[in-house]
Amino acid sequence: MNIKKWSALIAAGVLAASLTLFGCSSGGDQGSTTSASGTDAGYTLINDGKLTVAASLDFPPFENLNGDKPEGFAVDLMGLLAEELGLEVNYLPSTKFDTIVPLVQTGGKTDVGVSSFTITDKRLQQVDFTDTYCNVNQSITVRSDSGITDVSQLEGKKIGAQTGTTGYEWAAENIKDAEVTGYDEMTAVFAALDSGQIDAVSVDLPVANYYVKSYTDCQVIKEIPTGEQYAIAVSKENPELTKALNKALQAVRDNGKYDELVAKWLE
Ligand code: ARG
Repeated sequence: MNIKKWSALIAAGVLAASLTLFGCSSGGDQGSTTSASGTDAGYTLINDGKLTVAASLDFPPFENLNGDKPEGFAVDLMGLLAEELGLEVNYLPSTKFDTIVPLVQTGGKTDVGVSSFTITDKRLQQVDFTDTYCNVNQSITVRSDSGITDVSQLEGKKIGAQTGTTGYEWAAENIKDAEVTGYDEMTAVFAALDSGQIDAVSVDLPVANYYVKSYTDCQVIKEIPTGEQYAIAVSKENPELTKALNKALQAVRDNGKYDELVAKWLE
């Protein structure tokens, strides 16, 4: 590798490291938009007065189920955004992750998809995204007794990830000869690691950090500076809703409530 590439990589690493610490802090000055609000806003809703949300509720600390109640950073954030818009939030029953973007795209079932969606070129062809609300990196988790301490040792090994995620893609593209298995639910991926069906998990770092707390024999061995940005998925047919959500996002950044959520869930 030439020097230019290395310094770019180092710069990316430094940037990523600072994002890890402050990835979800405020200070984003994402452009906001029109002054539209409430029912005159020009957007459409599945149910009047309600913001209907599709989510895969298996991704703590962002969106998870506490009994049958959705909870997490993004769930609270959606509550705040809806409040700004004068709407109630209505979470649909937990939805399989890789079906949510198509669901938003097709229309008729949900107003938004909120599932720690990393903005990707492929998804941008299917849906619109709001301004970003969080920055994260990928990570690799293994069993503590596995003797695996570096990604290079994963060559030819079994990796697990949630189907349709950036973690799945990262593993498939970057780990030589890896056998990557996709699972519907994040919980199943960690259960498979714990029981020895797979050798490593590839997932967004804050989520890995959360899961290893309940699987004490597992540890995160690597942060991968992918520099991903989370945003809310909205139908391309409903651009005024994207605008309204961006305006609400800016408002909760400005009034300090966004920072309270960061402190509550992510620090
Ligand atoms: N950020 C990753 C992606 O966009 C993983 C998101 C998984 N979300 C979830 N709620 N299970 O592909």
